[in-house]
Amino acid sequence: MQDSKTYVEKHKKRFLNELIDLLKIPSISADSAYKKDVIQTADVVAKSLKDAGCDTVEICETDGYPIIYAHKIIDPNLPTILVYGHYDVQPPDPIELWTSPPFEPVIKATELHPEGAIFARGACDDKGQMYMHVKAMEFMTETNQLPCNVKFMIEGEEEVGSVNLATFVENNQEKLKNDVILISDTGMIAKDVPSITTGLRGLSYVEVEVTGPNRDLHSGLYGGAVANPINVLTKMIASLHDENNHITIPGFYDNVEELSKEERAEMAKAPFSLENYKKALDIDSVYGEEGYTTNERNSIRPTLDVNGIWGGYTGEGAKTVIASKAYAKISMRLVPNQDWKNITDLFKTHFESIAPKGVTVKVNPHHGGQGYVTPIDSLGYQAASKAYETTFGKKPIPQRSGGSIPIVALFEKELKSKTILMGFGLDSDAIHSPDEHFGVWNYLKGIETIPYFYNYFTALKK
Ligand code: BES
Ligand code: MN
Ligand code: MN
Repeated sequence: MQDSKTYVEKHKKRFLNELIDLLKIPSISADSAYKKDVIQTADVVAKSLKDAGCDTVEICETDGYPIIYAHKIIDPNLPTILVYGHYDVQPPDPIELWTSPPFEPVIKATELHPEGAIFARGACDDKGQMYMHVKAMEFMTETNQLPCNVKFMIEGEEEVGSVNLATFVENNQEKLKNDVILISDTGMIAKDVPSITTGLRGLSYVEVEVTGPNRDLHSGLYGGAVANPINVLTKMIASLHDENNHITIPGFYDNVEELSKEERAEMAKAPFSLENYKKALDIDSVYGEEGYTTNERNSIRPTLDVNGIWGGYTGEGAKTVIASKAYAKISMRLVPNQDWKNITDLFKTHFESIAPKGVTVKVNPHHGGQGYVTPIDSLGYQAASKAYETTFGKKPIPQRSGGSIPIVALFEKELKSKTILMGFGLDSDAIHSPDEHFGVWNYLKGIETIPYFYNYFTALKK
């Protein structure tokens, strides 16, 4: 029988070329100018699943972009793995900071990827990682060794909040029934330090609007005599953290789970170099909540960050003006047990209450989702652990991630199954940033490792 490593070695050129073709289509879900491209990407993914051996492939229309559902059921008595991924990508802006165009993929060597990395928007998040599953499926069907049933659900709206996927999941519980959900849309610690993501943060995303005078004013004639919405907004935002960088919204920390000393000690064992971390970001110091390490700050602790702020005159030269309005987009990363709707309410109540006289403040909630943690003693985790051990020669480390995939908590609630997050990206892959890339080694290693998960999960389930 052929093993996955040999198969990957034999077909790697084609595997790379197929991914490159997929990356050429700008499937930007946030920007309606790319509607045709997003829909075309769904067609390409659907075809690839058919070619990889799925018996049934459906393009399910929604109120937004289509969801691709596919399956191969070999025996209803065998376990079923549901694979989730997304074919939409983030906008590439600021486009001028890319060293090669975001939708013209090229393979270039980097310090961490001497064998080459594919540079393109979506290379890692998530077209590249999603496509590893399509190719792993091809390997298992081509070599007649698919050990269990498999279902695929690939959506096109992850980067804009998965609103229509939530409805789809709620309405299709029987169709999506499974024993475990498998996702590659996260990262691992390093190429020689495999890890399994055991937690994701939740999210509450809001937009705030501060309105002062009914029109933009001359900053000489009126300056100092009326509230300046930009001055007010920045002061309000600054007050959301205290001198220890704790968030000041009343009730914000009420449900935050405090990890035990033992759990924190366990976390601290993961290899991490503060020096390299700072060097990679060109910063002279890290920053954050008092009493927590960098790895804790970006995984087990909730945060509040301004993602964008605007108002007044930002064009060339100077214009002496007091703006009528100022705006900001604010995200709060949440930890398990914090309810995102409750946190959104707390934010709104607090932010409106601290508005000084002379302005009105509006808070418009965008989207959000719950955080997620998964135990390391589940069958799925054990199967994943053995799969990494087989192909990396090392036991993977459990790691809680700071990112969010809000739909995962909903999967557990609606489908009653655990999600296993087998990510093969690196933090340095620049997802959502200019020059996003995905290591060729990582891509091929993912395709090699995934079939072992199928085997071990099926064996453990018996
Ligand atoms: N794949 C990412 C999330 C991620 C990346 C989790 C790396 C862990 C490690 C996903 O596509 C994403 O970008 N999620 C958004 C949230 C979403 C609601 C837009 C995020 O985390 O900002
Ligand atoms: Mn993603
Ligand atoms: Mn993303």
